[in-house]
Amino acid sequence: MTQPAPSLAPDALHGAVVLVTGGASGIGGAIVDAVLAHGGKAVVWDLRAPPGMRADVHAAQVDVSDAGAVAAAARALPEAFRPTHLVNNAGIIGKRMPLAEMEAEEIDRVLSVNLKSVLYCTRAYLGARAPHPHASIVNLSSIAARTGGMPGNALYATTKGAIAALTRASAKELAPGIRVNALAPGIIDTPIQQDSLGDRAKLAEIARVIPLQRVGGPEEVAQAALWLLSGASAYVTATIIDVAGGR
Ligand SMILES: NC(=O)c1ccc[n+]([C@@H]2O[C@H](COP(=O)([O-])OP(=O)(O)OC[C@H]3O[C@@H](n4cnc5c(N)ncnc54)[C@H](O)[C@@H]3O)[C@@H](O)[C@H]2O)c1
Repeated sequence: MTQPAPSLAPDALHGAVVLVTGGASGIGGAIVDAVLAHGGKAVVWDLRAPPGMRADVHAAQVDVSDAGAVAAAARALPEAFRPTHLVNNAGIIGKRMPLAEMEAEEIDRVLSVNLKSVLYCTRAYLGARAPHPHASIVNLSSIAARTGGMPGNALYATTKGAIAALTRASAKELAPGIRVNALAPGIIDTPIQQDSLGDRAKLAEIARVIPLQRVGGPEEVAQAALWLLSGASAYVTATIIDVAGGR
């Protein structure tokens, strides 16, 4: 895995408080690290506690698919951690299911975690936010929104397509004060992929069909998120950016 070259000034997020859902691991964890490394603070809402305690991070165990839990977590935010920016990152692939065997409970679970959570967290952010000249929201879509995803993952791909539509709709509604963009990662080496593929050897196999001939690292997605969160992307809104090695 290559480490991306630093792209922004070390204080690019000075004054920003970035709420990252699912920030305890994978891409969300890398986004939190990048925010802190660029002078910002972070709020992490995840099912599990993030590793380590830091003064510049406020972490709470929150199930973002639960509207009541999200509202309560927003009310419990300390004044110093009122978010200026939001990254809707928490997501799951869900059970692999052919269309003929879709289970109603699993449909509800994946829709709730991947889609409803974004509505709940966006609403909570809008109610709790502190003003910032470069306020922005970054949603995690996926290239599955345009490729249809892996066989048996129609539901996942559907939620990620909905995130792309929601991103464009939110960008219009929240302009000019808040920019809203999405990232569409390809295959990124995180626990979600390890769960989905079952073993790491499959990642190497998949790498062969990616033009850049390798899977991506969570830090590489975090660099794109950082740019969207910063003033460097001040004229960019309603955009979906692929971070997918050309796939
Ligand atoms: N890894 C990839 O290849 C890839 C590709 C495209 C899109 N994405 C998207 O990027 C996002 C992050 O994925 P990742 O690969 O880092 O996954 P991950 O499994 O490593 O991390 C997801 C995090 O979300 C948290 N989470 C899950 N359900 C939650 C809930 N109900 N409430 C609160 N937190 C919850 C988990 O605890 C975990 O910390 C997801 O939305 C995913 O769909 C990932």
